[in-house]
Amino acid sequence: MDGVSTPLRCFNEYHSAEMLVDDGVETVTSVEQKKVERSIKEVISVYKQMHSLPEPTLLREQHYQYLKKGLRHLSDAYECLDASRPWLCFWILHSLELLEEPIPTAVASDVCQFLSRCQSPTGGFSGGPGQHAHLAPTYAAVNALCIIGTEESYNIIDRKKLLDFLLSVKQPNGSFVMHVGGEVDVRSAYCAASVATLTNILTPKLFEDTATWILSCQNWEGGLSGVPGLEAHGGYTFCGTAALVILGKEHMLDLKALLRWVVSRQMRFEGGFQGRSNKLVDGCYSFWQAGLLPLLHRALFKEGESELSRRRWMFEQQALQEYILLCCQNPGGGLVDKPGKSRDFYHTCYCLSGLSIAQHFGNMDLHHEMILGEEENRLAPTHPVYNICPEKVSKALQHFHQLPLPDDSRQPGPPAPDHLQS
Ligand code: FPP
Ligand code: ZN
Repeated sequence: MDGVSTPLRCFNEYHSAEMLVDDGVETVTSVEQKKVERSIKEVISVYKQMHSLPEPTLLREQHYQYLKKGLRHLSDAYECLDASRPWLCFWILHSLELLEEPIPTAVASDVCQFLSRCQSPTGGFSGGPGQHAHLAPTYAAVNALCIIGTEESYNIIDRKKLLDFLLSVKQPNGSFVMHVGGEVDVRSAYCAASVATLTNILTPKLFEDTATWILSCQNWEGGLSGVPGLEAHGGYTFCGTAALVILGKEHMLDLKALLRWVVSRQMRFEGGFQGRSNKLVDGCYSFWQAGLLPLLHRALFKEGESELSRRRWMFEQQALQEYILLCCQNPGGGLVDKPGKSRDFYHTCYCLSGLSIAQHFGNMDLHHEMILGEEENRLAPTHPVYNICPEKVSKALQHFHQLPLPDDSRQPGPPAPDHLQS
């Protein structure tokens, strides 16, 4: 394990974008960028005045209290997420597992009962009881139930109906709509592939032509867009790449172009990632972008790439940890997009997920840690494909792969997919 406590901001010291951002021609974008950089400079100078040792601390207890309360009580501000309630369960439960905080049995059971009320009579999960099934809350609900990882939680998932729902949103060209009558984009392919693998309902027919459709989303920038022909974005790039990993087709991407695109999204001054070219840093991309590096590392390794490090990912892991710990923590608990923004459970989940990626290199066999600050800052590792802890992935696969595929009850489940073997 490497403890990392080299000088703060060594990454960006020589790269103040005051000089670089606009070549002397001011635009709305460059003005916003400079504002963000000034706010970050301010955070760092206050931090340096207050602390003799430059070792940022994870506000573990504050985050725990914030998350624990969120499982039972949400403020009025969350009314707009009434159609995303399984997401709130996932964001909070995953944040807690990263902090290695156990979920009390009674709370876990209440979450199970709530999610069972979100399961649609037509299969899949909806954003709240009585709403229509949708792939995004289906992904969130299955992940949340796998994090809980009990017989009660596994048994909630109606796999036969889930497969029916996935088939009902599949399009003839290989893509998926997010819900019946809804929009197509690459998030849906990832949500479908993720839940289908975890619950062992993945059939070749379900994903026929899907890889080809996802590959058509990689554009000239090297990243992936939501649908073919648009701008590359970290959220969609993660979804498309992770879905291809699940389908065993990631080698069909232009991996080097993707690598070049994603590493260029780490901000030279801030240390965090932007979602797309010429946009602002945001803590949530700590996962959507940095989470691509483990996927790419493995894909390039499989291609026989010989120059790969066995100790670190191909991004500045320390700079990302500095950005999250110094700029994204709310002193009362919870994490944020950037300084000055309000905390929320989405950013808490994805900042912590990105911090975990930046702290842990490798997989279960080869593992190397690089923790900025004290050992107490250490989070549990996360699985870069599903974004739940790897043990929970293994446990769910073990459980569901004993069960037959729902459309052919005479056949035992197929072996676990290749990317889960190591
Ligand atoms: C741009 O927002 C955001 C998008 C275009 C979509 C992002 C997609 C994800 C985060 C992936 C979701 C994943 C699943 C599994 C459903 P913006 O314009 O507000 O932000 P920006 O300025 O940072 O681009
Ligand atoms: Zn964000």
